[in-house]
Amino acid sequence: MKSPEIYQSQYPTPTARSYGGGRRTPLSIVSDAFLFFSGAVAALLLVWTFSTFSNHQPQPTSSFETPILDSKSPVSVVDNVGCAGTSNGVNLQYDPPDPNFYDDPSLSYTIENPIKNWDEKRREWLKLHPSFGPGSDERVVMVSGSQSRPCSNPIGDHLLLRFFKNKVDYCRIHGYDIFYNNVLLHPQMHTFWAKIPAVRAAMLAHPEAEWIWWVDSDAAFTDMDFKLPLHRYKHHNFVVHGWPELIYRKKSWTSLNAGVFLIRNSQWALDFMDVWSGMGPQTPNYAKWGEILRETCKDKSFPESDDQTGLVYLLLKEKEKWGNKIYVEGEYYFEGYWLEIVETLTNITAKYDGVERGERMLRRRHAEKVSQGYSALWEHFLKDAGYGKFSWRRPFITHFTGCQPCSGQHNQMYSGQSCWDAMQKVLNFADNQLDRISTIFEWKLLYKEKSKRRILSV
Ligand SMILES: *[C@@H]1O[C@H](CO)[C@@H](O)[C@H](O)[C@H]1NC(C)=O
Repeated sequence: MKSPEIYQSQYPTPTARSYGGGRRTPLSIVSDAFLFFSGAVAALLLVWTFSTFSNHQPQPTSSFETPILDSKSPVSVVDNVGCAGTSNGVNLQYDPPDPNFYDDPSLSYTIENPIKNWDEKRREWLKLHPSFGPGSDERVVMVSGSQSRPCSNPIGDHLLLRFFKNKVDYCRIHGYDIFYNNVLLHPQMHTFWAKIPAVRAAMLAHPEAEWIWWVDSDAAFTDMDFKLPLHRYKHHNFVVHGWPELIYRKKSWTSLNAGVFLIRNSQWALDFMDVWSGMGPQTPNYAKWGEILRETCKDKSFPESDDQTGLVYLLLKEKEKWGNKIYVEGEYYFEGYWLEIVETLTNITAKYDGVERGERMLRRRHAEKVSQGYSALWEHFLKDAGYGKFSWRRPFITHFTGCQPCSGQHNQMYSGQSCWDAMQKVLNFADNQLDRISTIFEWKLLYKEKSKRRILSV
């Protein structure tokens, strides 16, 4: 049986097309492939429980602003990074009896019930929980997820676990909470539509967070140091990777990638998701939207309405209403197409190794908790590396668009094996950055191997 993958984007990027015509696996949209665990109630409880017991403490500082470390005074690292005004002071036990929006019996997590005045409700909640105030303007909760059932690809669950571990590692280093959802929150909102109810539920469960960061399950962080440049988005409510000229001139459905996005926890976001999800399979207008989207984006290769083309549509047709608050990030790999990235990793590793050999401070062993100061020091040596394609900076996020690790129903453009091998390579590339931090760092110098993974498994 075909089981389409929840949450994994199947979109080739524009560059993907040059690798072979942009064919993709036909979507098999069958919602019965999913278990719907006694509805949104169970899911709600899950979100709720998770949020209740989550005890990470966000430490937002924004990238490109991190202080450069004087290589003779590592202690200043600690002082500087701490000054973003957060976070160890949040009180995870205090919930005053004053009524807040959670006490409103009409509050619903489900997407059919619009929410009003969310900004005020959030603000009120923050006022009642003052320990969450400091740093709240840059607090991020990452959300990802996958289907509730075992993968049909034999190696699928292993790969998803590694992808999840990768996200957990990134979040731990950067002080972000992470929520992994594996229930279908709306029985009809399957495949790529499933993320919208998950993001919305996360907003309500995390009023302390300013941003919800959706990252597809098949996307991996390949620069553990890089921080979101949140200051750049301060006048925007939604950030997505894309190419404006492909959106506005070519009107291409692959002009952006909806598999990774940042969305501000706000009334704007709730309204936007209402409109966006209004093109989804849970509505009577689904078929009609399929036609409209195909008419708008002529290169769209399948008839069903999808979230990504829907986003392009809203940028094209309702720019005044929504587009002005949407930041199309093209400068760095907010997410990047794996085929474009994988072959560059060997040279990037060599570049970083070279820099590291030349600077003793970069080789200094240190606790993971204080790694952000060392990231800042790295930044000093990466000044000329550039960003994104053709740069020798580590790509921030590598996205396995079209690979479908769980179902195994990858795009016919490439072989499944090339997908799984590339995933292992990319995930090792990320893991090796963690080992660099930790005490086994010298093993690498000792054995001069490309991958410590291999050394460790010998
Ligand atoms: C890697 O570097 C070598 C040597 O500089 C170069 O010849 C090669 O084209 C590079 N490979 C890639 C994929 O960029």
